[in-house]
Amino acid sequence: MSAWIDIAALEDIPLRGARVVKTRAGCVAVFRTAADDVFALDNACPHKQGPLAEGIVHGSAVTCPLHNWVISLETGLVQGADEGQVTTYPARIEDGRILLDAAFLAARKVA
Ligand code: FES
Repeated sequence: MSAWIDIAALEDIPLRGARVVKTRAGCVAVFRTAADDVFALDNACPHKQGPLAEGIVHGSAVTCPLHNWVISLETGLVQGADEGQVTTYPARIEDGRILLDAAFLAARKVA
């Protein structure tokens, strides 16, 4: 059985923006795309831990604010590179609220 945690209203995150959510398992960056999809990823670029939540969202990807690597919000993979991946977490929208899967957050290893 999966439990979903209500973390914010969709409106709390600007269009093509992100917000860092503190969970018991650590900080997760939650992104909102122009199409109103939401994606949850670790807030650390696989290159040098750049804060992805401060990057620019375009389509379903985010550009890291430090050195401009482009990371897919859907898969966490670095685009145009053979290596590097950010951990992603299930996220969904229900009645205008953003929900994250509690089980996945609990399984996350805290560094
Ligand atoms: S830390 Fe993200 S591109 Fe360098």
